[in-house]
Amino acid sequence: MSIEQLKADLLESIAGASDAAAIEQIRVAALGKQGSVSALLKTLGAMSADERQSEGPRIHALREAVTAALAARKDAIEGAALEARLAAETIDLSLPAPDRLRGSVHPISQVMDELAEIFADMGFAVAAGPEIEDDWHNFTALNMPESHPARAMHDTFYFPDTNADGREMLLRTHTSPVQIRAMLDVVKQNPGGAPLRIIAPGRVYRSDSDATHTPMFHQIEGLVIDKGIHLGHLKWTLETFLKAFFEREDIVLRLRPSYFPFTEPSVEVDVGYSLVGGKRVVGGSEGWMEVLGSGMVNRKVIAAGGLDPDEWQGFAFGTGVDRLAMLKYGMDDLRAFFDGDVRWLSHYGFAPLDVPTLSGGVGTPV
Ligand code: PHE
Repeated sequence: MSIEQLKADLLESIAGASDAAAIEQIRVAALGKQGSVSALLKTLGAMSADERQSEGPRIHALREAVTAALAARKDAIEGAALEARLAAETIDLSLPAPDRLRGSVHPISQVMDELAEIFADMGFAVAAGPEIEDDWHNFTALNMPESHPARAMHDTFYFPDTNADGREMLLRTHTSPVQIRAMLDVVKQNPGGAPLRIIAPGRVYRSDSDATHTPMFHQIEGLVIDKGIHLGHLKWTLETFLKAFFEREDIVLRLRPSYFPFTEPSVEVDVGYSLVGGKRVVGGSEGWMEVLGSGMVNRKVIAAGGLDPDEWQGFAFGTGVDRLAMLKYGMDDLRAFFDGDVRWLSHYGFAPLDVPTLSGGVGTPV
């Protein structure tokens, strides 16, 4: 076969190759040890010097042409494969995600949304404060002066440095400092002061860790300041809230006298439960579980908030959001909330578009 003929044949089959395997097969058949082009190259050794001078460049040119054609065809095939793959993997972001790609809303976020929805219906606004607090807002203004023993009970994380005002800095140990911030805010906006109705959900920190305690957890604070507020308002509010949250009418509350420096009188609230298949279910009154701390806002706290305690009264309450989520949705290990295990999240998480509403139901598991 002439060199020209061999070249034409090889270039034709290269042009017709449709995948990488076909290209490789042609390469081996032409340039491999037993290949047709390699066989031609071997004939050079037996040639006379004259012959070699005329045939050598032709055979080498053949090898180069075939090598270049193989590389060009390979590039073209790979480029086309990439194009096809990119086209096939196009994601239409307007389509609903397949199940395996769908994230979920963490039960804590869901419960915070549920609480905001329930309290918004009762006229409460959502307030927030910093997680890095100073000891005046976290303790002093809440009637816990420096030597107060309740400070020691909070297992506080302190920062090494004080702030510009010389106040000690810490990670807030409860959401109660938002009471002070909300009062000072309302006074700033309106020198007459209150009324005020807020809830403040958020992260809080204590140096504590076991099956029922994590160093970071979530609380929600409630505060109402108005004229003529009394314990009856507190009890009605908590009852209405817990019935809406647990979505049952048979919620029974038990109020016990208690002590918090920032409320006077202070009331600890238990909710009745029933045993269903050995599990505690909120509702009825077979047993009691503590769910809330609350009370009438201490006069000193109202004054620290910049309001006249002879004119304004109020009630406040605080509770653990994680606890509420566990009670409502039946998880039993607090630590799992913060492990980020996708299996747990896909089991206990909520559909992203399942926004809690009072009419549609607050909180329907996926
Ligand atoms: N801050 C209290 C706690 O962390 C709860 C509480 C809030 C009690 C408001 C009374 C009033 O335990």
